[in-house]
Amino acid sequence: MVFLNLISLLFIVGVSPAVGQLTNDVRHSNACKRFKLQSTMSSDLATSHSQLPILFNSANDYIQREAPIAQAGLLANIGPKGSQASGAAPGIVIASPSTSNPNYLYSWTRDAALVFKTIVDHYTSSASKDSSESEFRTLIDDYAYAQSQLQEVENPSGNIATGGLGEPKFNIDMTAFQGSWGRPQRDGPALRVITLITYANWLLDHSNASHAKTLWPTIQLDLDYVADNWNKTGFDLWEEISSSSFWTTATQHRALRQGATLAKDLDQEDSLTQKYSTQADNALCFLQSYWNADASYITSNTGGGRSGIDANSVLASIHTFDPSAGCDATTFQPCSDKALSNLKIYVDSFRGIYAINKGFAQREAVATGRYPEDVYMEGNPWYLTTFAVAEQLYDSLSVWDAQGSLQITLISLPFFQQFSADVQTGDYKSDTEAYEELTSGIRAFADDFITINGRYTPDNGSLAEQYKKDNGEPTSARDLTWSYASAITAFLAYDGVVPLPWGAQGLQIRTNSDGHCMANPGPMSEIVFKIEKNTVFGENVYIAGSIGQLGNWDPAHAVKLDPKDYPYWSMQIEVPASTTFSYKYIIQDENSDSITWENDPNHEVTSSPEGQSSTVSDTWHN
Ligand code: NOJ
Ligand code: NOJ
Repeated sequence: MVFLNLISLLFIVGVSPAVGQLTNDVRHSNACKRFKLQSTMSSDLATSHSQLPILFNSANDYIQREAPIAQAGLLANIGPKGSQASGAAPGIVIASPSTSNPNYLYSWTRDAALVFKTIVDHYTSSASKDSSESEFRTLIDDYAYAQSQLQEVENPSGNIATGGLGEPKFNIDMTAFQGSWGRPQRDGPALRVITLITYANWLLDHSNASHAKTLWPTIQLDLDYVADNWNKTGFDLWEEISSSSFWTTATQHRALRQGATLAKDLDQEDSLTQKYSTQADNALCFLQSYWNADASYITSNTGGGRSGIDANSVLASIHTFDPSAGCDATTFQPCSDKALSNLKIYVDSFRGIYAINKGFAQREAVATGRYPEDVYMEGNPWYLTTFAVAEQLYDSLSVWDAQGSLQITLISLPFFQQFSADVQTGDYKSDTEAYEELTSGIRAFADDFITINGRYTPDNGSLAEQYKKDNGEPTSARDLTWSYASAITAFLAYDGVVPLPWGAQGLQIRTNSDGHCMANPGPMSEIVFKIEKNTVFGENVYIAGSIGQLGNWDPAHAVKLDPKDYPYWSMQIEVPASTTFSYKYIIQDENSDSITWENDPNHEVTSSPEGQSSTVSDTWHN
């Protein structure tokens, strides 16, 4: 009961019809009434909590104490009223009030979007909407407005049309940050879109289409950025490596899926929905390539020269959790065999490198950090990564309980063997002893990640970015907003609360006959084709060629030219950069369906380097 009182203070995520069954099944008894969320917008953190003991016997004890502090800490870092955020514009999230070593008094697009996702989830799902709730609504509207303004701020990554949306951080008065930095970071627009679409969907469900439509221009700018740039490299979420990155691709994929659905719901042109879903298919296909089948983990970055074992992948799994997708490995759902194997390898990589982790047995929880090779601030455990491990495990337990079984494959076997040494691959129904043994072991394991963070949380409950690997003292930025958000989402997962589905259910990977991603283009450049050709009414000029963009020589997938300067026909398309390919012009007659190919030889051209453009003027081969 005490716990339920506590949870009432937390952001309570509601239940959509699609997951109602699941959520009802998995929640612990929720019969108790829910309490109103306290309005803590100007609360001061270091209040009466400091007398409380710092050692916790259970995750539950810690969560009870920490949940309201995390909520207050999160809200204190949002302008204009947050007690730690003076000078921040309305709806602007500061990363931390720390102004030196490190100076985090900036607003990162990533941190802000993740923080507002927890607020939107809370607001859109809490049972009662009374006046204290309207403060959250105001905050969300402030956030949406501030982000629409930030999109327009010209910055070192570009302007609104030339890549400025990929800028990672801004000053808290919403001016551009001009210093050198790892830019662009392409997860920002994707995460922002996920947060804004969650809000827009709620508005649509609550007869407020007109308000949802006001969000669309901001959402569309981000979606177009993601659709046009997801296959380009950029800095990872830790702002260090410029390459492709699992977290970035996974969140981009989710954004595009949700964008395709919203575009339709808001009656946008079909071509937009198509563009977003085509690019979502491509991103999903590319996402598979991060899986390292030999070593059974997700290689988080394609560059950087590290092992690739990284919280990047664990965070991606929990932030793209869709309870309706079950344990699907295509989208690396938390309970998928791939994500569980990856989780074990990730956790184990920190056992030997932090002094505070010494002496723990293999199946015991330990503090985790960003990645084992990390040297930032000497390379320490982070609160948000250790919470993420617990969250992935709780999410998994929720899904298994809802589906009434769990499956062990060869890929996930080592993960499960931690909890039952001689367990074998197979399906375990929830009424079997093995299921009981495994899930209670996994729940205890998850709880221990919570209590580890609890052990290293100071008396006043504040959460910095990191704690020292040698003695567990908090270090780096104090009161990190993202740390608080990560505590809240982990605590909700502890209580079996699952998020709304976003469209991950039943997705297929679209590959061509060679098993390659269909139209997964890699670096692209533009090319303009021009040809002079007299035709008769009903005839059109097309190009068929040796690359996917030109239909792989299949006239049914050839690309039509535009006769706007007749008798000159032209078209501009994106093709793989610095690539030589051949093609031919063909004439298709609309009336007779007949096709006329020009004579040999094929035309051949080499496209420009990435991002550049070229023009070819051809003559028809008679
Ligand atoms: C600051 C970044 O925020 C952090 O992620 C990174 O590790 C350090 N710079 C070092 O590059
Ligand atoms: C450094 C982290 O690496 C990065 O992910 C984060 O956005 C910033 N700090 C701000 O919290």
